[in-house]
Amino acid sequence: MCRAHLIAPSVLSADFGRLNEEVRAVEAAGADWLHLDVMDGHFVPNLTMGPDVVRAVRRATSLPLDVHMMVSDPGRYAPRFIDVGADWVSIHYEACPEPRGVIADIRARGARPSLAVSPDTPLEVVAPSARDLDMVLVMSVYPGFGGQQFIPGSLAKLEDARRLRQRLGLGFLIEIDGGITVDNAGAAAQAGADVLVAGTAIFGAPDRGTAITAMRRNIAAVAAPA
Ligand code: DX5
Ligand code: ZN
Repeated sequence: MCRAHLIAPSVLSADFGRLNEEVRAVEAAGADWLHLDVMDGHFVPNLTMGPDVVRAVRRATSLPLDVHMMVSDPGRYAPRFIDVGADWVSIHYEACPEPRGVIADIRARGARPSLAVSPDTPLEVVAPSARDLDMVLVMSVYPGFGGQQFIPGSLAKLEDARRLRQRLGLGFLIEIDGGITVDNAGAAAQAGADVLVAGTAIFGAPDRGTAITAMRRNIAAVAAPA
């Protein structure tokens, strides 16, 4: 099966003082989704945005909003983000090792559930809830900050995710997040990523359209098996 690859710029690297314009600029530049990093200063040592910011982004664009919750209590806060327009909601396994209730709640509220794994967590932990998931998010940096270097071992984890999907006969998307650049996007897609999050590589580029086009070209150059 040939899957389309999706590019999701991470708003974390946008200029927050011009958020509206920044969001519209990457939409015009060809982004498929927008990735929104929610950090609570507890699960990770950084604080970013709450539901009001996501609501503002929702008003600025019709792109799907991919909300990545790096919070200690995702069950409590996920509904707040769905209420303001989150289409996809990723919760972290490390914050919620028994995630099935929260996953079911996300779906019941009309959003698409995803389970994220940090670099030190083996991919296999998603297996018990895999049937209930629409996406698995493989973190390729330690969550908390944009602009970090891609951890090369993440490629093997993408392959693990693809094998798990195949073994169980499922169709969840595989997302990669952290340190994605024009240069490594092809390798990530080849290893199994369907959705590629990129903050610095897109918002930090002199021309966002050129960066997205180059990323797509490098992804298309590799034949990704299903
Ligand atoms: C890190 C976030 C990422 C980050 C990606 O905790 O989950 O989404 O913004 O930024 P870059 O692409 O700069 O690594
Ligand atoms: Zn993220």
